[in-house]
Amino acid sequence: MRKLLIATLAAAVPATMALAQSAENTLKARQGFFQLISFEMGGLAAMAKGDVEYDAEAASAHAADLSTLMSLHIADYFAPETSNADLPGKTRAQPVIWEDMDGFMEKATALNAAVETMAGAAGNGLDALRPAVGQLGGTCKACHDDYRAKSF
Ligand code: HEC
Repeated sequence: MRKLLIATLAAAVPATMALAQSAENTLKARQGFFQLISFEMGGLAAMAKGDVEYDAEAASAHAADLSTLMSLHIADYFAPETSNADLPGKTRAQPVIWEDMDGFMEKATALNAAVETMAGAAGNGLDALRPAVGQLGGTCKACHDDYRAKSF
């Protein structure tokens, strides 16, 4: 199931792929997707930091939702001509995503792996959760550093 994200990203490579939706809706979906990831991650990070008391059930639910998000078909969220060069001020997705889809997919693969680790760790106590949150957060940063602009 988690391989799907990668497979569907690969499908985004042809630059000839038509924009099935308006660019505006595409950006909303893409940014909404990352907002959902961030929301689930936020719940896990709050427990890891001790801001919120650890709760195995809640942590497992966040992890399960992250896994579900990894099964979305996101190729169309990365339709051609939706970079910040095409749509300045509206997106932080850098053109290098489309120029280096292999590299971008490597970052997505790392995210998938970290979500999988999280699925196994989240319900197993704070000592299991903490390193999994660290690994997961590292995969966000690694992709953002290279492929997301700092500002809109
Ligand atoms: C494979 C690359 C990649 C990974 C991994 C990744 N992101 Fe992102 N993220 C992006 C890109 C590209 C954007 C910019 C989207 C845009 O502006 O259209 C983004 C945008 C965001 C945004 C802003 C959305 C908005 O409303 O503008 C948040 C929040 C975010 N990511 C959180 C995360 C978190 C948390 C993780 C890790 C759990 C993560 N991302 C992992 C590539 C990635």
